[in-house]
Amino acid sequence: MRVRKAVIPAAGLGTRLLPASKSMPKEMITLVDRPGIQYVVEECARAGIRDVLVVTGRGKATMEDHFDRALELEERLEKSGKREELEEVRAVAEIANVHYVRQKEALGLGHAVAAGRSFVGDEPFAVLLPDEIVPPPLDGEPPLLERMMDVHERDGVGVVAVRRVPEDRVSAYGIAAPAGEVRDDFVPISDLVEKPAAADAPSDLAAVGRYVLTPEVFDALDAASPTVGGEIQLADGIRALIDSPGVHAYVHRGPIYDVGKKLDYVKGSIQLALRRDDVGPELRAWLREVLAES
Ligand code: UTP
Repeated sequence: MRVRKAVIPAAGLGTRLLPASKSMPKEMITLVDRPGIQYVVEECARAGIRDVLVVTGRGKATMEDHFDRALELEERLEKSGKREELEEVRAVAEIANVHYVRQKEALGLGHAVAAGRSFVGDEPFAVLLPDEIVPPPLDGEPPLLERMMDVHERDGVGVVAVRRVPEDRVSAYGIAAPAGEVRDDFVPISDLVEKPAAADAPSDLAAVGRYVLTPEVFDALDAASPTVGGEIQLADGIRALIDSPGVHAYVHRGPIYDVGKKLDYVKGSIQLALRRDDVGPELRAWLREVLAES
């Protein structure tokens, strides 16, 4: 079955991006000219997903306002002849049907995804972490989410996006245990181990915040107890899919930025800006100048 729905968990505390995330959800922090969460909703829309559930905790109003019409602002822009800005503002409300549910306590990513149960119902769905930004693909590059959805549609399996990380970084991620060779960027997995010590890590394949899951995860998440860091892990739900219907890792080779971390936030902002026609060329020239001086 084709994936038609996505869950975006955005209820975490964002402590790694303080003080920016003190009074604003980190998902609303701007990269170039739009909040991080907009890139992720746009990624869903590009893959043909029209219904998106944002799991919120605090700052719900700012997210709701962002994806809603803004009639007063639109009227003002129209009167002052700012056509381009008007189109831009209107387009945000049309990207997808954005729904909201509240995670009442930040008890972990698994707990946040479980809050999507009644929205998802009995069909496969995508999960996109909004602090992982995948720049829109260049011409000819295959979109990450679409490739994952295609494999789910063909084989019925769950899919976890991973990328290779250096050995000293494995303890920061969920690490997949491959059960075979990577073929055409996919490999079946036999486990997903949350934040293992380097010596215990089953591979260097780290989960990077894009998943296609089947609704069987919900029973497993409801039954899961808090583990690493006192949080309910999404990995505990995914593990329940490994025997049936099976889970494949998709080895992503393109760029992806964890913009919930300071350095990645800056890198991601620059990469996104460089790809844009309006600011990219000037930024590229300026970066060359600055680098030559330093
Ligand atoms: P992170 O662990 O990266 O986010 O969770 P965090 O907890 O907000 O960040 P730090 O570690 O304190 O800096 C990945 C995603 O899962 C969401 C977060 O909002 C983020 O988008 N999340 C996490 C929830 O929705 N609920 C939770 O209880 C935990």
